Amino acid sequence: MKTTPQSIRWDNGTLELLDQRQLPTSEIYLTIKDPESAAEAIKNLTVRGAPAIGITAAFGMVLAAIRKDDLYLAGAILKKSRPTAINLSWAVDEMLVIVNQKPSDLVESLEKRAVGIYLGEISMCKNIGKHGAALIQPDSGVLTHCNAGGLAVTEIGTATAPLYHAHSKGVSFRVFAKETRPVLQGARLTAWELNAAGIDVTVICDSADAHLMALGHIDIAIVGADRVTANGDIVNKIGTRSLAIACAYHGIPFYVAFPSSTYDPQTAQGLDVKIEERPSSEVTTSLPFPIDVPVRNPAFDVTPNELVTGYLTEHGLFESIDEAVK
Ligand code: MRU
Repeated sequence: MKTTPQSIRWDNGTLELLDQRQLPTSEIYLTIKDPESAAEAIKNLTVRGAPAIGITAAFGMVLAAIRKDDLYLAGAILKKSRPTAINLSWAVDEMLVIVNQKPSDLVESLEKRAVGIYLGEISMCKNIGKHGAALIQPDSGVLTHCNAGGLAVTEIGTATAPLYHAHSKGVSFRVFAKETRPVLQGARLTAWELNAAGIDVTVICDSADAHLMALGHIDIAIVGADRVTANGDIVNKIGTRSLAIACAYHGIPFYVAFPSSTYDPQTAQGLDVKIEERPSSEVTTSLPFPIDVPVRNPAFDVTPNELVTGYLTEHGLFESIDEAVK
């Protein structure tokens, strides 16, 4: 199975991140030397996607240990870099469990746990792909939003995992990638990685989704998640909520794919999650004219559980969140 270049490389104490801001024009890896630079790379979207920022934070903690930094402070800096995806604080907390055990070989123990988190995410994605492949029917149209692909994890991603599996089995289908304003993760990243894998992909502007549904071009929607709350609400890239509402209106099944590292049992419902507001410059710099009114740039939104047809995890496909996480 042909997959995307690795978004994160760790080799013997060296952390390299594929600079996703420059894709698809340039494939450049940046070397990250300390936890502060790891936090900055998460914040400025050098690395993005819920599992990928969790993995990066885990390796950031190893870099902090190598430098003999205060690991609680490093953890706090990393956690603050982006507030919405639970994978980030989950991964830092997993590393702090090791710190609290005070092992004599602290750096080695932390490195082992960070590599474990990294390999764990890859393995969960493989199982998501196996369980979800049957959702991709021959000659169907599949809609996805943002990038929940290999770049957001490594290898085959979450929402794209069923696509890679179905494609490797010779199923022919068409993916519609919503461009995902303002950072264009759909047009720049999802379209690029699926096209490179030989999967038939068409980019649409964000507002074209309901129209294509009305024309009968979309049979199923699959998205990823930054956080799934205890009641099964989905927090994902801005535009996911309106996509799910459009799916419900048109009778199109709406699935969310996520590894268990994205489940947050401590938060009762999606509306309790802090939604990251990003700089207005992300919206305005792509406009061909100056804009002289306030601009808001919420990066995520909440899709209520009643709009979710099924939860696809490493354990299988489930109709309710309770079944998915038991
Ligand atoms: O702002 P981003 O690009 O980090 O947002 C990413 C998403 O919303 C993804 O859908 C989500 O993190 C799942 S990635 C497997």
